[in-house]
Amino acid sequence: MITLTDIAYVRSGVADLDAAVRFATDIVGLELAAPSEEGVAHLRADQRHHCLALVAGRSGVIASGFSVADSDALAAAETELERSGCTVHRGGPAEARSRRVRELIAFDDPFGNRLELVSQQETVARPVAFTRPAGITEFGHLCLDAPDVHEAHRFWSTRFNARVSDWLGDAACLLRIDPVHHKLAVFQGDGPGLCHMNFQVATLDDVFRNWHFLVDHGVEIEMGPGRHPQSTAIFVYFLGPEGFTYEYSFGVRRIEDDAAWTPRTFDPAEIGSIDMWQGPVRRVSTQPQLRPERIGVRAP
Ligand SMILES: [Fe+2]
Repeated sequence: MITLTDIAYVRSGVADLDAAVRFATDIVGLELAAPSEEGVAHLRADQRHHCLALVAGRSGVIASGFSVADSDALAAAETELERSGCTVHRGGPAEARSRRVRELIAFDDPFGNRLELVSQQETVARPVAFTRPAGITEFGHLCLDAPDVHEAHRFWSTRFNARVSDWLGDAACLLRIDPVHHKLAVFQGDGPGLCHMNFQVATLDDVFRNWHFLVDHGVEIEMGPGRHPQSTAIFVYFLGPEGFTYEYSFGVRRIEDDAAWTPRTFDPAEIGSIDMWQGPVRRVSTQPQLRPERIGVRAP
């Protein structure tokens, strides 16, 4: 069993780096870290050096990163994954430097989502210099696509310490690795990809201020404002460049007593099961997974 201590980052390939960075800063509000690497933009939302790396090149998600406790935990995870038949790539110094981690390993989930486990992700002490006051408090969760969410649950709950918090029928599995209702979700989709990346905001007012800001700036709202009955989070989903969906949300449920929580199953076809305020519901855009052979297994 591999213990994930936190989510770490999303790494996404973009054909137009300038446009993607402009959106991530001017619209989403993230801080652009001082440039340190040609063709890579690091975006910051909390204590992490970055939680989003935009990489010039082919458009598509490159990898989703998760933290483990330390080097020993990473080495144990590597052994465990290899024993179970996964092909594991150990990142070199340039890859680790680009991710601001001490060490990393990379592998695919059974559906082709590229995952990376890292040790010692860099923390920055200085407060985040947000580009605009969106109210972001942290990188909240990431959501992957898979053709079969039950298979995905089996993968995450048997190999890792992920536990299901709630089900949306065959459409989604919401998983926790700490008391937050979900730091990871898997949505039913045709192939691997990143369904969305979530940022928590400080107040309900931030969600609605951001919604108006997005509308005023011509950003496509994919869903919301609404409220998920599973996590109780009030959300707005919106579409960034190159098919990358962002989400702001506030008020996510915490499950402090694991033993007392029983996962529930909601029928996505039932009114109010995705948005308890019963607003229009739609499937948000997924950014497809880039195949490692296309990006080059050792590409930064
Ligand atoms: Fe979400």
